[in-house]
Amino acid sequence: MAQISGSADAPDMGRRQFMNLLTFGTITGTALGALYPVVKYFIPPTKGGAGGGVIAKDALGNAIGASEFLNTHNAGDRTLAQGLKGDPTYIVVTEDKQIADYGINAICTHLGCVVPWNIAENKFKCPCHGSQYDSTGKVVRGPAPLSLALVHANVEDDKVNFTPWTETDFRTGEKPWWA
Ligand code: FES
Repeated sequence: MAQISGSADAPDMGRRQFMNLLTFGTITGTALGALYPVVKYFIPPTKGGAGGGVIAKDALGNAIGASEFLNTHNAGDRTLAQGLKGDPTYIVVTEDKQIADYGINAICTHLGCVVPWNIAENKFKCPCHGSQYDSTGKVVRGPAPLSLALVHANVEDDKVNFTPWTETDFRTGEKPWWA
């Protein structure tokens, strides 16, 4: 008897556990959904204005401090940071050792490789198919069809803020293709 009921119960147990799991999942989901506004309340909003800006972060996800950055970088440096939408974006140090008011999105406009900065040649050179961009990210050799996208870079509270660049591309005098 016990054996029969045991074997008859087994699928039920399985089903019940499955249902419990489902219920648990639903409750957890609901609870998390309800908690979201509360959690969001305690997370300080990202500075950078209403234009959807972000604070530039290093490879470890730490906000980049502008003065420390300038102490450890040279005039003319282009250094990768995490930018808008997590895109790899170069912070540019100007010849007079300031953080330039623009950053350069490092994603190649050909097929999307991250383009390294070649300090010796003063260019960005894509290792994938040989596209080249000048020091401002303007395309100077294909197959890349377009220049690297720009963002605005501003220092606020000693942090580097990136905001979307929607104005004329200063390198080409044209409307930005990325906006
Ligand atoms: S992805 Fe850069 S040249 Fe093709």
